[in-house]
Amino acid sequence: MDFELKTLALAAAASSQRCDLLVLLVAEGFAPGPEALSSLAALALKQGDLQTRAGSLLQCYAPPGVAARRVALLGAGDGGAAAVRKAVLALAPVLKVRGIKQVVTLFAQAPQPEAVGAAVRSLAEASYVYTSTKSKPEARTLARVVIGVPAPAPVRGAFDTAVAVVAGVEFAREWANRPANHATPTLLGEAARSLAKHKPIQCKLHGPAQVAKLGMGAFMAVAQGSSEPLRFIELHYQGAAKGQAPVVLVGKGITFDSGGISIKPAAGMDEMKFDMGGAASVLGTFRALAQLKPRINVVGLIPACENLPDGKAVKPGDVVTSMSGQTIEILNTDAEGRLALCDALAYAARFKPAAVVDMATLTGACVVALGGVRSGLFANDEALAAQLQAAGEQALDPCWRMPLDDDYAEGLKSHFADVANVAGRDAGAVTAAKFLQRFVGSYPWAHLDIAGTAWKSGAAKGATGRPVGLLVQYLLAAASARRGAARGK
Ligand code: BES
Ligand code: MN
Ligand code: ZN
Repeated sequence: MDFELKTLALAAAASSQRCDLLVLLVAEGFAPGPEALSSLAALALKQGDLQTRAGSLLQCYAPPGVAARRVALLGAGDGGAAAVRKAVLALAPVLKVRGIKQVVTLFAQAPQPEAVGAAVRSLAEASYVYTSTKSKPEARTLARVVIGVPAPAPVRGAFDTAVAVVAGVEFAREWANRPANHATPTLLGEAARSLAKHKPIQCKLHGPAQVAKLGMGAFMAVAQGSSEPLRFIELHYQGAAKGQAPVVLVGKGITFDSGGISIKPAAGMDEMKFDMGGAASVLGTFRALAQLKPRINVVGLIPACENLPDGKAVKPGDVVTSMSGQTIEILNTDAEGRLALCDALAYAARFKPAAVVDMATLTGACVVALGGVRSGLFANDEALAAQLQAAGEQALDPCWRMPLDDDYAEGLKSHFADVANVAGRDAGAVTAAKFLQRFVGSYPWAHLDIAGTAWKSGAAKGATGRPVGLLVQYLLAAASARRGAARGK
C-alpha cells in the first residue's frame, strides 16, 4: 500500500483530488469555511446526520465542486490520536466492502502530528486482508492513501514513522496469521533472512546442532517432540557505532503450541498457531527499523520450534539443564514458552545489552487479567518500565505494569531441580515472569506478556501486529535520548 503526504488546502483538495473516497475528519470545535466540503460538514452537523464524537460516520456522494466519487465524513472527537483511530476504524466495512482503491484523507482542522500518524496506521489496520493461503484471494483493494494537510513539515516525521510502523505491523500480522504448516521454524528463519536484504540488517540462523552446542537444554526440550527442526534466529540491526550497547528484543517463537504431553483441549487449539506472536513482533520491528534507520543498535533473538506430543517428547517430571546451568523440572509441558525464552535470555547477556525486552504470548492468566486491551508489562528496571509504558501510550499500543515481588516465586520450588517450570494457578502471568527473571543477566530487562493482545478471536480472528507499534516508538525514543545524552557530554 502506498502512502503520500501532500500539501493540500481544503478547498483546492476537494476540487482537484480524484479518488474513490474522500475522507474528512471533523473534530470538536469545527468552524466551517466557505468551500464545498466544510459547508457539507457544517450542514451534516446541523442536521444531526453527523456528530463530532469519534466513530460517527456519514457516507454521501460528492457534492458539486468535489472531485472524489464519494465522501465520508467522520467525527474525530477531540482530534487526538486515539479519537482519530476510532474514527477511521469505523470506516473499515466501507473500505473492504466497497472495493475502494484510492483514498484521500483531509482534516477539517489542522491536525497534530500524532493524529496524522494515527490516521495512517488505522487506515492500514482497517483495510488489511489476509490472503496467503487462499486459492482465490479477495485481495485488499485499498492501494493508495493520500493524506492532505495545509503544512506538511510539522507532521512529516510522524507520517514517516507511521508508514514504517505499518510495514512492520503488516509483516508481523502476515507471519502470525500464517497457519503453522506455512510458518514452520524453518520458514520463520527464512522470513528473518529475507529482512537481511535491507542493508543495516544481518541475520544468523542457528540449527539444532549449534543450539545443542550452546547448551540450550530448555529450548531443546520443547522442540524434541516435533519432527520440524528448531531454529534459533539472530538478527542484528546496526544503526549506531559498533561499540554502542544494543537493545536486545527476544520473541517467543512457538510456531504451534499443542501443549505437548500436557496436551491442550481441542476447542480453539488452532489459535495456538499464533503462539509465535512475539517472534512476529521482532520481525516486524526489524522491518520498520530497515525503513526508519534510527541511530541505535538492536539485536533480535527468536527461539522458534513446535510444541508437540510424541514418543520423543519431553514428559512431565523430566529435568533439563538450561544454558544458564540451572536445572528445570518440567512439571507441565504446556508451560513451554518460558523454557524457550529462558535460554534466549541467557544468550542475550553476551551482547552486554543496554536493555533486553522479551515479547511472549506467555500465559492464559494474562488474558484473564488484562484482556485484549493492554499487554502485561514486567520489568526489573524503573526507567525501562517507564519508557515502555510511555511508548505504548504514544503508539496506541498500551501495556500495564505488573508486579515482580519475590514472594510470587515461592510456588516455583522443585524437589528435583533448581526450579520448576510452573507454580500454582494463582497469578499465573506473574509466576511465569518470575521464572524468566531467574535467567536474566545483569541488564535492565522487561517482559511483555502479549497473550491477550497479539491476536483476536471470534469474528475478527487474526493477528494484530502488536506490540510492533510500542517497540518502534520505544526504539526511536531510545535512539534520540542516547544522541541527546551524547551531545550533552
Ligand atoms: N501459549 C500459551 C499461553 C496462551 C494461552 C496464550 C491461551 C493465549 C491464550 C502458553 O504456552 C501456555 O500454554 N501457558 C499455560 C501455562 C500453564 C501451564 C502454567 C497457560 O497459560 O495455561
Ligand atoms: Mn503452552
Ligand atoms: Zn505457548
